[in-house]
Amino acid sequence: MLFNENRGQPKLRMRHMTFKVGALERDRWLVHMLNAVNELAPDDLIRDEMTQYFVKAAEHLRNDTGLPISSAQYPR
Ligand code: HEM
Repeated sequence: MLFNENRGQPKLRMRHMTFKVGALERDRWLVHMLNAVNELAPDDLIRDEMTQYFVKAAEHLRNDTGLPISSAQYPR
């Protein structure tokens, strides 16, 4: 079963708002995720695509920047 069928729209930023995600958390998370990608990706093209996605997405989930979009009160 797909994530969306089971849990609805991912709403990743909203679902991570209850946790502090700063540069440290982003980087710790990335170390583990990219280790898994390096171990499991079937070829270089897929590994590079996944790496690019995760680096961008992990930065996107930061909620410690002080910008309005990083606040739990920001209207969605
Ligand atoms: C590409 C980046 C990321 C993706 C795609 C991602 C994806 C997800 C997903 C799908 C969930 C489950 C949400 C739900 O179903 O309720 C989740 C939970 C979580 N994520 Fe992430 N995440 C990312 C980055 C991060 C980062 C950078 C952190 C910071 C440490 C983080 C910490 C957490 C925590 C603490 C939970 C909750 C776990 C739980 O409730 O058991 N994630 N994430």
